Amino acid sequence: MQPTPITKTTADAPSFRIRRARRGDAESLAALLREMGYPHGSDAQTVHWVISHPEIEIFVAADAQDRPVGMVTLSHRPQLRLRGRIATVDELVVTEGWRRRGVGRALMQQVVERAGARALGVKRLELNAYGDRGEELQRFYESCGFARVDRMVMRYTELEKLNG
Ligand SMILES: CC(C)(COP(=O)(O)OP(=O)(O)OC[C@H]1O[C@@H](n2cnc3c(N)ncnc32)[C@H](O)[C@@H]1OP(=O)(O)O)[C@@H](O)C(=O)NCCC(=O)NCCS
Repeated sequence: MQPTPITKTTADAPSFRIRRARRGDAESLAALLREMGYPHGSDAQTVHWVISHPEIEIFVAADAQDRPVGMVTLSHRPQLRLRGRIATVDELVVTEGWRRRGVGRALMQQVVERAGARALGVKRLELNAYGDRGEELQRFYESCGFARVDRMVMRYTELEKLNG
């Protein structure tokens, strides 16, 4: 089922529309990732790989010229113990000049709708929030309907040294 597009227009702010990412967005997505603090961004090959992957979805908020000003990625897969699907918000970013205008919230609204019973029907939707703006981010995600759960996040860092 296709997601319902979210369009937001207010008198005092430029409008944007949420749509699926396309191959032609590769450069914009790379720039958004750099803004998120990943200096290497991404490359066109990886963007094409992710866009065509059946268990990953990327939505962008596009400005009036259809240029992405924000993006969110959602990955999902079946999980044994849930006897159903689990989904993770992997990346969320809005370009600096567009922040505090409701773009981030609209992107989160899109993934929540996509994860819901009328679409993917996931049993759990989660995310890991990193960064030095922890409390601010927590408030943002809480305002989007998420609740903090105690969790130990660990990584096998050897693979990052070898393949990272
Ligand atoms: C987090 C982020 C995506 C929010 O996007 P945004 O478009 O600015 O968010 P919105 O405008 O939809 O804000 C929604 C609410 O969050 C809160 N909020 C967002 N940014 C805030 C800030 N800098 N300070 C305080 N509150 C903030 C506001 O309460 C706002 O509610 P309001 O609309 O009633 O004022 C954006 O700040 C960003 O890209 N940050 C850098 C990347 C990042 O940290 N990503 C998350 C990684 S886990």
